[in-house]
Formats: sequence, structure tokens, C-alpha cells
Amino acid sequence: MLAVENLHLNYGGVLALKGVTLEVRRGEIVTLIGSNGAGKTSTLNTISGVNKSAKGKITFLGKEIQGLPAHRIARMGIIQAPEGRQVFAGMTVLENLEIGAMGRKTNNSDRRLEEVWSLFPKLQERRNQVAGTLSGGEQQMLAIGRAMMAAPELLMMDEPSLGLAPLIVEQIFKIIVELRNSGRTILLVEQNAWMALQVSDRGYVLENGRCPLWGKADELIADETVKKIYLGGH
Ligand SMILES: Nc1ncnc2c1ncn2[C@@H]1O[C@H](COP(=O)(O)OP(=O)(O)O)[C@@H](O)[C@H]1O
Ligand SMILES: [Mg+2]
Repeated sequence: MLAVENLHLNYGGVLALKGVTLEVRRGEIVTLIGSNGAGKTSTLNTISGVNKSAKGKITFLGKEIQGLPAHRIARMGIIQAPEGRQVFAGMTVLENLEIGAMGRKTNNSDRRLEEVWSLFPKLQERRNQVAGTLSGGEQQMLAIGRAMMAAPELLMMDEPSLGLAPLIVEQIFKIIVELRNSGRTILLVEQNAWMALQVSDRGYVLENGRCPLWGKADELIADETVKKIYLGGH
């Protein structure tokens, strides 16, 4: 579904990505693990067209998309739930979801809203609450729900577990698995490598703008280097 080849990105002359190569097949959960500053967000933002790559090729559903503006990439079905949730704090839950539906003009936003309510009954209870007053976990659910409203072909999630209590993290990962089981394709970025690899089909380790290591999730979990550096204690 998605193939990223030799992606380079620089921020004002500083190379953040130095040749990232990865692929996502339909129906998979693929996870990108790596320390803070490794280039995970930069990779997602370059795929979604927010960042402009200096070099490299990105193919989505058979079409080259590198260099296209972000709104066109979104319209093709690559939708991101960004790092730090970024919900519209002054708007209600429902208004946030309606904005998500505008990202991609397809029909059936009523049906998608029903799907979001069934995934997140708590959001439905709080549909008229202002998003800024939701808990961190609820805001993360809203960020995922908003992305779902755009009917993603490929859903990219940037650190959905960041800053959340362990019990909430488990709920979020359960939702991610539910989404995959309902046929979604997911590219997940996580510092919580242990949880992420548990639910993923395959993974890539991102280190200093490069992908030195990749494989099936269970192979990565068993890898001594991955264990030592990323799975502390597991
Ligand atoms: N807007 C920016 N301007 C300059 N440097 C940036 C910017 N965003 C990220 N970087 C740098 O790029 C590198 C990768 O960052 P990032 O992709 O955010 O990593 P991660 O998401 O893995 O924590 C880091 O060294 C970071 O400091
Ligand atoms: Mg990041």
C-alpha cells in the first residue's frame, strides 16, 4: 500500500532523515520505534506532505506522492492522528469530529460518526463537551476518532500512548487492534516499543534518521539489541 524509499529530510540544513526505507501492506499494523529525536515524527510528516523531502520516493496505492501538498495526500486517504493529539480545544467533541470529516470529501459521514461512537462510547456521552476539558486519554480518543472521520485508507498515529496512564494506554492499544481487525491499515509510531510491538505485524527501528533494523514484530521482540535498547526490562 505504501512504499517509502531512501527518504531524506533536512530542517534548515540539518539532516533529520538520512535514508528511511519502509513499507506498509494493506491490513497490517506496522510500527516505527525509536528514541526521542530519532526521526519518527519527521517520517510521518514527510509521508503526509507536511514536510517536504529533499530526496527519496514515496509510493501510495501505486502513485508517487512525494512533493504533493498535504491536502491532496489526505484526500488520497493518508490520514494522521498527530503527536500531542492537537484537538481543537475550544470546540466540542462533535465539532472536532465534523472537522475530521472535512479532510476527505466522501459520503457517509453519518455512518462514520456512528462507527466513532461505537468505538468510543465515552466520546458520545461527551459529544457537546468542549475538547480542552477532556482528560488526556479522552483527547487521544478524540484525535483517533477525528482521523477515522476522514475514512483513512492508511491511518498514521504518532505516539498515541504518550503521557497517558498505563490503564488508558492499554485501552488505546486495544482500540488500535480493533481498528486493524475491522480491516484498517495502520502505521504506528511509538516510544513505547514493548506495547507497540505486541500489537504489530512488523516493525522498523529508527535510529538517527536511518532504519538499521526491521522485521516481523515477534522477531524484533526476540532481538538482543532491540531488547537491550528499546524493551528495557521485558
Ligand atoms: N521543525 C524542526 N526544525 C528543526 N529541527 C527539527 C524540527 N523538527 C524536528 N527536528 C529535529 O529532527 C530530529 C528528528 O525529530 P523528530 O522527527 O521529531 O523525532 P521523534 O519523533 O523520533 O522524536 C531531531 O533531531 C529534532 O530535533
Ligand atoms: Mg515524535
